[in-house]
Amino acid sequence: MADRDHGFDGKVVQITGAASGFGAMAAADFARAGAKLLLSDVNEAGLQALSRQLEAQGAEVIAQAFSVTDDETMGAHIGAAVARWGTLDIALNNAGIGNGVVKLQDIPLEDYDRVMEINAKGVFIGMRHQIPVMTRAKTGAILNTASAAGLVGSGHLSAYAASKHAVVGMTKAAADEVARDNIRVNAICPSFAATPMVETMGDMVGAAHGISREDAYKRISARVPMRRVADPAEVVQAMLFIVSDANSFMTGQAISVDGGLTAV
Ligand SMILES: NC(=O)c1ccc[n+]([C@@H]2O[C@H](COP(=O)([O-])OP(=O)(O)OC[C@H]3O[C@@H](n4cnc5c(N)ncnc54)[C@H](O)[C@@H]3O)[C@@H](O)[C@H]2O)c1
Repeated sequence: MADRDHGFDGKVVQITGAASGFGAMAAADFARAGAKLLLSDVNEAGLQALSRQLEAQGAEVIAQAFSVTDDETMGAHIGAAVARWGTLDIALNNAGIGNGVVKLQDIPLEDYDRVMEINAKGVFIGMRHQIPVMTRAKTGAILNTASAAGLVGSGHLSAYAASKHAVVGMTKAAADEVARDNIRVNAICPSFAATPMVETMGDMVGAAHGISREDAYKRISARVPMRRVADPAEVVQAMLFIVSDANSFMTGQAISVDGGLTAV
């Protein structure tokens, strides 16, 4: 890809949910730009395959399979990067799950709890370990993956929307707390992008209406002014810019990359 290096050479970058979708694509881009990578995911096989591929390309990688909901392991995981590389410059709290397209009253309580636990508390757990390291260094950039559903009402996604609104809220609060230590905290709010998460959703919508995945994408993009789902690279490009040193005065923001969805 053209000029994506953004001065990441030698930077220590943590990515959660790194085995797939935005996380895997961002990891490859950071590696290409010379960053050292601290990667995690619950998908151990996917994570190991990615880290072998990045190491073969010359990147330094620490990869560990665990859930973002595991506070103790998150602390040790970040500690391992600090022990090996001395610091943590950038963190992408990106792991997340969807919970289908379901009316609020039909969402089982355990599904609500699971979505909140992974999507919201997982980000909180990441930040509670990242911030002390960055505060010591008096520099850092954190990017939390929220969603368009973290900004506007999204019918049939109420548990997911609750979790992503929580991510936006804690992003703003954290940004206020750490700005004086030269740490920036932002959230990115994509609409649908064709990662494996959305491919699954496209297939479910397609099956429900007897249409192809491509036609399902058109259907779920009907309210998006650009009338299409994003290529994941379009979101990852923005992610990299948001955490780059070039973007030094943006903090506490929820940045939409959504084909205009939340503008209308
Ligand atoms: N794709 C989209 O259209 C879209 C839109 C808005 C927001 N998002 C958000 O983007 C983020 C990345 O999603 P994606 O689209 O790349 O999906 P994806 O399913 O391709 O990737 C998500 C990754 O997170 C991992 N994961 C799930 N639960 C985990 C846990 N408890 N601990 C650690 N890792 C876990 C999965 O194994 C997977 O590798 C998510 O937070 C998602 O909610 C995606």
